[in-house]
Amino acid sequence: MKISFADKRPTGSYALAMPVWGESMLAERLAGFDAGARKLAERAADAQRFEREAATIAETFIEEGEGARRLLLIGLGGKRNDDALFERIGGALTARLLTSGETRLVIDLDGLDLDGEAAGRIAFGAAARSWRWDQYRTRLGRKAKPTLAEVVLVGGGHGTPKSWKRRSAVLAGIAFAREMVTEPANIVYPESFVARTRKVLEPLGVQIEVLDEKAMAKLGMGALLGVGQGSARPPRLLAMRWNGTAAAKTKPVVLIGKGITFDTGGISIKPAAGMEAMKWDMGGAAAVAGTLLALATRKSKANVVGICALAENMPDGTAQRPGDVVVSMSGQTIEVINTDAEGRLVLCDAITWAQKQYKPEIIVDLATLTGAMVISLGYEYGGMFSNDDELARRLAAAGMSTGDKLWRMPLGDAYDKLMDSPIADMKNSGPREGGSITAACFLNRYIEPKVKWAHLDIAGMVWAEKADHLHDKGATGYGVALLDCFIHDHHEG
Ligand code: BES
Ligand code: MN
Ligand code: ZN
Repeated sequence: MKISFADKRPTGSYALAMPVWGESMLAERLAGFDAGARKLAERAADAQRFEREAATIAETFIEEGEGARRLLLIGLGGKRNDDALFERIGGALTARLLTSGETRLVIDLDGLDLDGEAAGRIAFGAAARSWRWDQYRTRLGRKAKPTLAEVVLVGGGHGTPKSWKRRSAVLAGIAFAREMVTEPANIVYPESFVARTRKVLEPLGVQIEVLDEKAMAKLGMGALLGVGQGSARPPRLLAMRWNGTAAAKTKPVVLIGKGITFDTGGISIKPAAGMEAMKWDMGGAAAVAGTLLALATRKSKANVVGICALAENMPDGTAQRPGDVVVSMSGQTIEVINTDAEGRLVLCDAITWAQKQYKPEIIVDLATLTGAMVISLGYEYGGMFSNDDELARRLAAAGMSTGDKLWRMPLGDAYDKLMDSPIADMKNSGPREGGSITAACFLNRYIEPKVKWAHLDIAGMVWAEKADHLHDKGATGYGVALLDCFIHDHHEG
């Protein structure tokens, strides 16, 4: 999607969008039109019961010059700047026009008195909603093909180019995350995940380090290796380092992603129905890689390390069994009650390695960790577990501002105790009840004292069965905008 900014409406053919605040009168917004056009627009608003609620649209055609122009009135709702309002406005317009036959959209912000941030956010939403992955569709019908190729924002005011520059970097990160999540597991597996990520990040100056099985065995990563041992695709640990400040003494923020490129459940095998969804069990890792891409693209002045714990969880003669005891890199032993609780097993070794390697002050991990998380929060919020109130507050705020929303969940000794094992230091799976919380408590056992840590269980957020304002049905790119915003607001020098 081509995005541009202008002071005046261009000439030629295009669809025109006029955003309207909830409390302002439509007539004021339409003052620039001639009487005929005004009448049509007012009648359309009335007939379509357009009451200027956020992201609702009334549509009509008006006469302009020689031609008829498609006009979209879009509501801005009440004057609140939360919940990613402007992003949703851009996204709603793209959703409406993407395959409409229109090729160009002009969004007229003149007279709305918005700051430059708003125009950048609208542009972001418009572009984010246009993302698709048609690679494997060789028979896409004419009417299913996108037509909208260009969006022009008029009257965004100054500050717009800066706002857009930052957000177009975030878009690149989101697009990468979506691409990786969408690709099936015969295409994206640990080694190819590494290769594809390296290819986009290295040219931007991100340092890449990769641990193969041999290196991981030497480090004693028995938990991560146990998960991968049933697969013909060997596991990898990928570290991506972005050094955006000269001050080398700034400790990096470490982001860790669960990267199970396919989760069959292993010997504790999942039911067949819906198992194909488990290609996106690497959505945490994709969000982390996408965030590094965004940060490097916009040359963020922060020190951030991204780590992806990559493995494929398969049943096989070589696979680990329920009841096996593995030794994690931390030295703590784990009884593998259920081979389907594999995410925590790869993450615990990644966490231990990250702490040893980078001595971080802050660790944020993202993982499609538990089905129970989806039962708790559905598809609206990711679950957040944290040992630090300020970190939790900051992440929640970044979530609200970007639309990648988070809801805090509890940790606690009573939950933690449920993970004790009769034969080892802990088991990898507890009772069904509170399954997301006990999973978080498991991870907490690997966090060193004084490390501020947040665990984001994003099981319900990576993939959407329904289209929404900022994404089509499918991969959402959840987490990239969230982490970018968190780093931008709190860790740039
Ligand atoms: N990747 C799944 C979690 C998941 C399930 C994400 C459904 C999205 C949708 C994870 O590895 C898993 O299988 N978790 C188990 C844990 C249990 C065995 C303790 C679960 O949630 O059932
Ligand atoms: Mn699993
Ligand atoms: Zn999993």
